[in-house]
Amino acid sequence: MRLLVTGGSGYAGGRLVELARAAGHDVTGTSHSASVEGLVPLDVRDRAAVDRLIDGLRPDVVVHTAYVQGDWHVTASGTAHVAAAAARVGARLVHVSSDAVYGGRPQPYTEADPPSPVFPYGAAKAAAETVVATVHPGAAVVRTSLIVGDDASKQHQMTLDFALGRRAGVLFTDQIRQPVSVADLAAALLELAAGDFRGVLHVAGPTAVSRHELGVLIAARRGIPADRVPAGLAAELPAAGPREVRLDLTLAQTVLRTRLRPLDEVLAAG
Ligand SMILES: NC(=O)c1ccc[n+]([C@@H]2O[C@H](COP(=O)([O-])OP(=O)(O)OC[C@H]3O[C@@H](n4cnc5c(N)ncnc54)[C@H](OP(=O)(O)O)[C@@H]3O)[C@@H](O)[C@H]2O)c1
Repeated sequence: MRLLVTGGSGYAGGRLVELARAAGHDVTGTSHSASVEGLVPLDVRDRAAVDRLIDGLRPDVVVHTAYVQGDWHVTASGTAHVAAAAARVGARLVHVSSDAVYGGRPQPYTEADPPSPVFPYGAAKAAAETVVATVHPGAAVVRTSLIVGDDASKQHQMTLDFALGRRAGVLFTDQIRQPVSVADLAAALLELAAGDFRGVLHVAGPTAVSRHELGVLIAARRGIPADRVPAGLAAELPAAGPREVRLDLTLAQTVLRTRLRPLDEVLAAG
């Protein structure tokens, strides 16, 4: 399979590039600010550059992971450029979305629940999903959650920064998510790239924890006691994003061979 991975210098994208190359696929990964050997430069905000790359490569599949949390142009407009170009050349598209598209509630969301974003990042990811559904209706849209596994994860870095006093901040006790292993996510993305699933799929871990509980588990791997992990309430910060977002994984368990491992297993292996 000829595969293009946007965001190949990122955490999930990088892991996918490695996995797909190891499986013998012809993989082109892209980077943006970082100059990384083995990757090609791409700014997804530049529609002409996206068209040139995709026209030149003629990939069978594009897996789109590139984003910047605070940048609508990268996250929403960039996705529009990638989806339109993939559709034009007849490439399959796997688009990586987020649980951030939801507004938060105690009961789990299923794929049938429409986005209900409550903060700018969630709105940008919801807009990206809308454009994908419109211009590339055959695409697979993967809504995932906090990506964890090792110290290259933003979630691990943030915890260690706060716990070791390198940066001020707190981990919320009232924001619930279902962290996913970067390895499991990459395996699921590769499986979906090679398959024909269309529509939205929730790909997250089965363990629902607060961001603070996650931080305590990450810190414990380094022997850092729980009381060094600063706790706070998202409820006190209006821009902090949705509170409880649980993803129903029933469909993923039917569609995927990849096992989405519980958090204790993931952190023990990392
Ligand atoms: N991280 C999480 O916990 C989490 C949770 C839920 C959903 N997700 C979703 O999962 C996906 C991957 O997340 P991640 O944390 O693995 O990503 P990441 O490590 O932050 O990497 C982001 C990637 O996007 C690239 N990028 C940034 N600006 C770009 C631009 N203008 N043009 C092209 N590429 C650009 C970066 O390239 P350079 O580094 O070279 O600039 C990098 O390769 C995203 O779609 C995100 O919405 C992530």
